Amino acid sequence: MKILVTGGAGFIGSHLTDALIKKNHKVLVIDNLSTGFRKNVNPKARFYKNDLTDHKKIEAILKKEKPEVIFHLAAQIDVRKSVADPVFDANSNILASINLIKLASLYKVKKIIFSSTGGAIYGDTKKRPTSESESEWPLSPYGIAKLTIDKFLNYYREIHGLNFVSLRYGNVYGPRQNPHGEAGVVAIFLNKMLKGQQPVINGHGKQTRDYVFVEDVVNANLLALKHFQKVGIYNVGAGKETDVNQLFREINRHFGGKFKESHGLAKIGEQKTSCLSFAKIKRDFGWSPKTNFPGGIKKTFEWFSGKQ
Ligand SMILES: NC(=O)c1ccc[n+]([C@@H]2O[C@H](COP(=O)([O-])OP(=O)(O)OC[C@H]3O[C@@H](n4cnc5c(N)ncnc54)[C@H](O)[C@@H]3O)[C@@H](O)[C@H]2O)c1
Repeated sequence: MKILVTGGAGFIGSHLTDALIKKNHKVLVIDNLSTGFRKNVNPKARFYKNDLTDHKKIEAILKKEKPEVIFHLAAQIDVRKSVADPVFDANSNILASINLIKLASLYKVKKIIFSSTGGAIYGDTKKRPTSESESEWPLSPYGIAKLTIDKFLNYYREIHGLNFVSLRYGNVYGPRQNPHGEAGVVAIFLNKMLKGQQPVINGHGKQTRDYVFVEDVVNANLLALKHFQKVGIYNVGAGKETDVNQLFREINRHFGGKFKESHGLAKIGEQKTSCLSFAKIKRDFGWSPKTNFPGGIKKTFEWFSGKQ
């Protein structure tokens, strides 16, 4: 199949591109390299260095290439940046996505598989693990943008017949995650600790997240492609809550426990909890997480160590 991956130079998108090429698909990548890297892009993929906000250029690419499926991962992924500049976030995450979905419908794309978010869409919920039927109260412009796209995809499906799956991820971690942004605490801590620097836990460190390993996330995307007729919204998480203190300790084990647990100021407005139910994706796609947290941290540690 001819498949377009937006954000294919990024952390998750590059792993997905590799997996699709391994399955002999013909892959095109569009990425503006704002947080992604050219070296992440599989040499067998056709690479377009373009910004999704350049609506005309994106139309020209879709018109020429006519992909059958789109995996849409390109996004401004920094929640704090979305709070600081909601207009920039909306331009990059909402308007560019609506344009892509409109073009997908126009150029007869058969399915669009979107990388959405679980944590940022549901907000702090009492019911955890949280299922897809829970009401959505995003606490950031980033979360609002993802929810808006989920709703647009549903609208395009209902009114224009464009098939979609939206995958609402937990906190994804693993090799190639960029440690220089605000997102991705595993990568940030590992990068610091490998340089001998002390990582700082924001506040008391009891904020929980649902950590899911990147290989499992790629697998969820592949299953959304395989079960071609299935449409809808699916959580992709491990169904377990891990707090930042536990995460720090798990990483610190790989350093023989030499780092002290050090706490800094709490980040105002930070979400307190997140944990996703994966019952729906298990029922429909047979997906469940294959890598547990210690196993995923070990693989990630080994990858980051190899880069030092
Ligand atoms: N990593 C996580 O924990 C997580 C959790 C939930 C959802 N997601 C979503 O998964 C997707 C991939 O995230 P990631 O962690 O791999 O991040 P990433 O930053 O590594 O990947 C995003 C890619 O999109 C590109 N990009 C950004 N804006 C663009 C634009 N306007 N035009 C073209 N390219 C653009 C970047 O250069 C980058 O390569 C994103 O949509 C993100 O919101 C990630």
